[in-house]
Amino acid sequence: MNIIDGLSYDDILLIPKYSEVQSRSLVDTSVDLGKNIKLKIPIITANMKNICEEDMANAISSLGGLGILHRFCSIEEQISIFRKCQNPDLTGASLGIQEEDKERAEKLAEAGCKIFCLDVAHAHNKFVGEMTNYLAKTYPSNLLIAGNVATGEGANFLYEKGADVVKVNIGSGSICSTRIETGNGVPTITALDSVAKVARGKYKVIADGGITSAGNLSKSLCFADAAMLGSLLAGTDETPGSIIYEDGRTYKRYDGSSTFKNSNIEGVQSLVPTKGPVKNIVQKLLDGLRSSLSYQGVDNLNDLKKDPQFVKITSAGLKESHPHSVRVI
Ligand code: XMP
Repeated sequence: MNIIDGLSYDDILLIPKYSEVQSRSLVDTSVDLGKNIKLKIPIITANMKNICEEDMANAISSLGGLGILHRFCSIEEQISIFRKCQNPDLTGASLGIQEEDKERAEKLAEAGCKIFCLDVAHAHNKFVGEMTNYLAKTYPSNLLIAGNVATGEGANFLYEKGADVVKVNIGSGSICSTRIETGNGVPTITALDSVAKVARGKYKVIADGGITSAGNLSKSLCFADAAMLGSLLAGTDETPGSIIYEDGRTYKRYDGSSTFKNSNIEGVQSLVPTKGPVKNIVQKLLDGLRSSLSYQGVDNLNDLKKDPQFVKITSAGLKESHPHSVRVI
C-alpha cells in the first residue's frame, strides 16, 4: 500500500527571501489565462448560487477579476443573467455534463459568452472527458475551464481532452463534506503541487476552495495561476440572496452546490455574516498578496512560482502564527 503525506494551506509557510521590492504598489498581480483572457487580479468568483450572478460578475470584472455565473437555474435564466453583465469578456458561465448542457453552451455562445467553466465534483471521469472534448472542439476560440480534480493525472486528463485551464481541489471548500462522507480528497497544497508539477505552463491552473485568508491566497498562487473564492466573498453586498436577521445580526446564505441535488451528502447549507461591498474584501486580499510578493522578493505572479521555499509547521507554529497572548480589540 502506498500512503503519501498530505499538506494543507495551514501546514506550511512561505520562507521570506531577500527582496528589492520598494513598495507594494509596484507589484503586478495580473495573469494571462490564455485565449485573450487577461485578469488584472488573480481572483475568480466561485460559480455558486449564493456567490455569482450579475451583481458579483459586474463588481469583480470592474476590479479586473473573473466572475463565473452559476448553473443552478434554467438556461433562459442563465442567459438573461449573462446579458445583464457589463463585461462579457470577464464573465464566464458554468456548465454540467448533461445533454441539455450542450444547448446551454450553444445559447451562451450566441449571447457572447467566451468563457465556459465545466464544473463537476469529480472531473477525472470518462463523461466529463467527453464533454470537455465536445466543448473544446465545438467552441475552439472560447476559454475552457474544467474541473475539479485533485491529482496531476486528473489534470493532464482534462488537458488532453481540450481544457485550457484546470480547476483543482476536491473537498476543501468551506461548505464541503465530501471528504467526511466519502473518504476521498487530497489536502490542498499536496493536490496543487501534484498538478503544478505536470502542468508546467502547458495549461493554466485554478486553486479552488479552502482559501480563508490573503496568506492562503498567496500560498495558492505559488502553484496556481488564479484562485477561486467562495466563502471569502460570501455575504458581500453583491452576492445573490436576501439579508437574514438573526439575534440582532445580519447574515446571507452560503450553501454547498451539492445541496441543490436531491440526494446530497457532499455539502452543507450555511449562514455567513454580511460583509459590505466586495471591493473592500478584494482590496484587503490584494494588500496581503502584494505584501507576500514583496516578502518573496518578486514583483509579479510568474516570478512567485519560480522557486518558492516552504517550511512545514507544527500546531505550535500555527498557534504562534495567529495573534496570541493578547485580547484583540
Ligand atoms: P470555499 O472554501 O472558497 O470553497 O468556500 C468554494 C468551493 O467549494 C466547492 N464546492 C463544493 N464542494 N460539496 C463539495 O464537496 C459542495 O456542495 C460544494 N459546493 C461548492 C467548489 O469547488 C467551490 O468553488
